[in-house]
Amino acid sequence: SEAKFMISMSLFLSFVQIYRCVCCRDFNIYLPERIEALSGSCVIIKCRFEIEEQYDKDLTESAKGVWYKDRNDVNRNVVFNSSTPRRNSFIRGNIIGKLKDKDCTTVFYDLRSYHSGQYYFRVEGKGRLKETYIKNNVLIDVIESPHKPRVQLYVEQKEVQGQEEVLEGSSVSLRCSAETLCSSPPPTLTWSSTPRIPLSESSRLEELISDLNFTATHRQHRVTFTCTITYQLQDENKTAQDSITVHVQYSPKNTAVSVLPSSSLLEGSSVTLICSSDANPAVNYTWSRESEGQMEQLQTGDTLTFNRTDPTHGGWYHCTAQNQHGSQNSSVMLDIHSTGLRSSITLHQSLTHTSTLQCISNNTRGTASQLLQLPSSVEREFPFCDTSNRRTSINNL
Ligand SMILES: *[C@@H]1O[C@H](CO)[C@@H](O)[C@H](O)[C@H]1NC(C)=O
Ligand SMILES: *[C@@H]1O[C@H](CO)[C@@H](O)[C@H](O)[C@H]1NC(C)=O
Ligand SMILES: *[C@@H]1O[C@H](CO)[C@@H](O)[C@H](O)[C@H]1NC(C)=O
Ligand SMILES: *[C@@H]1O[C@H](CO)[C@@H](O)[C@H](O)[C@H]1NC(C)=O
Ligand SMILES: *[C@@H]1O[C@H](CO)[C@@H](O)[C@H](O)[C@H]1NC(C)=O
Ligand SMILES: *[C@@H]1O[C@H](CO)[C@@H](O)[C@H](O)[C@H]1NC(C)=O
Ligand SMILES: *[C@@H]1O[C@H](CO)[C@@H](O)[C@H](O)[C@H]1NC(C)=O
Repeated sequence: SEAKFMISMSLFLSFVQIYRCVCCRDFNIYLPERIEALSGSCVIIKCRFEIEEQYDKDLTESAKGVWYKDRNDVNRNVVFNSSTPRRNSFIRGNIIGKLKDKDCTTVFYDLRSYHSGQYYFRVEGKGRLKETYIKNNVLIDVIESPHKPRVQLYVEQKEVQGQEEVLEGSSVSLRCSAETLCSSPPPTLTWSSTPRIPLSESSRLEELISDLNFTATHRQHRVTFTCTITYQLQDENKTAQDSITVHVQYSPKNTAVSVLPSSSLLEGSSVTLICSSDANPAVNYTWSRESEGQMEQLQTGDTLTFNRTDPTHGGWYHCTAQNQHGSQNSSVMLDIHSTGLRSSITLHQSLTHTSTLQCISNNTRGTASQLLQLPSSVEREFPFCDTSNRRTSINNL
């Protein structure tokens, strides 16, 4: 029976509590727990309060608001009194809400680090309405520099991580978003990139979101985009930024063949063909040449070298650069000029009894010689010696 009494008692008490809440208003205040303010700038405290019904008549147009800092000691910790807003030097401010409508929204200006702390509100109406709300307070945190904005990369409307590579041709959106702190004028977001690339930019200031939209091309590969939030304060501009580097995968561009020393050369000289291409990922190079209307694959690698050309090396050479996104080719014509010099030895009847001949070739670059043993029955004519650009003479030994 004692237990029954306890239960009915507690039911009764909770009923009374619910009834109280529904029926009678109590002193109560609604404040954010914590607000950040940029040093040198302002802060807006959103604030609403309730009073007991019996004081409704005391809440008039002439009601005043008071803010305490850190402690709610009426005599010592008043930092703002809307009766004498200018007389108090600790903090400049203004109650921008209508206290008669229980709106105690307040703006404080020119905050400094020593303004950081807990703020309590007090309403002072006519008659006996003088209430300090000690149960709730707002923590004002004065910070020296703004927080970084956040840059996110979207590819085809889907968010991706910064290091992921974007395929050329896909639609890219870089979104910069930032939380805003009280400031006059309001902060702004700006984009920059190095090198500067013109892109379509859309800003939505009210949310402080700025989108940079573009179709990915190789020009954006490894470009760093930076979004900066700027607060224009009285004596200085405070900024914070975030960056993202875009990596684009693209098919070969600007494929070209260069020829060292020249694509027009004398037979016997050496020549190197070098193929280059801009692509991501890197390409494979394949060399081919046209011969008798057919394509003939030669080799892979970015260079093709002939140590000693001869006239058969002349013709069109093609370099094909390829990665998984495509291929591109470039061609060059090799023009091998024949020296037209050929050597032959004709033995006259008078020489047929000799058995050894020495062939000496010389030009500006040097001299070469070769001994030739004649067979017993000598051919009338046979080509030998050097076919290059040398003068040939025969010494009869
Ligand atoms: C606010 O200022 C008024 C007018 O000077 C004064 O009567 C009142 O006591 C002040 N309130 C506090 C809490 O200091
Ligand atoms: C940029 O892209 C975003 C998301 O893809 C879109 O919401 C926004 O409207 C686009 N802005 C412009 C200017 O095209
Ligand atoms: C702040 O930035 C604005 C706009 O870029 C500029 O006009 C102004 O001179 C800057 N103020 C200071 C104090 O640097
Ligand atoms: C060309 O010459 C280089 C060095 O002189 C040599 O390493 C290379 O094997 C030669 N290539 C051919 C095809 O003879
Ligand atoms: C390029 O060559 C490498 C090595 O030979 C090979 O593994 C790769 O598959 C080739 N890539 C293409 C796109 O041909
Ligand atoms: C080079 O590219 C052209 C055009 O894309 C193509 O018609 C041709 O067949 C290619 N040639 C070679 C050797 O790949
Ligand atoms: C080649 O040798 C001949 C005979 O010895 C000489 O007269 C001539 O000047 C030489 N030519 C060169 C280019 O060295």
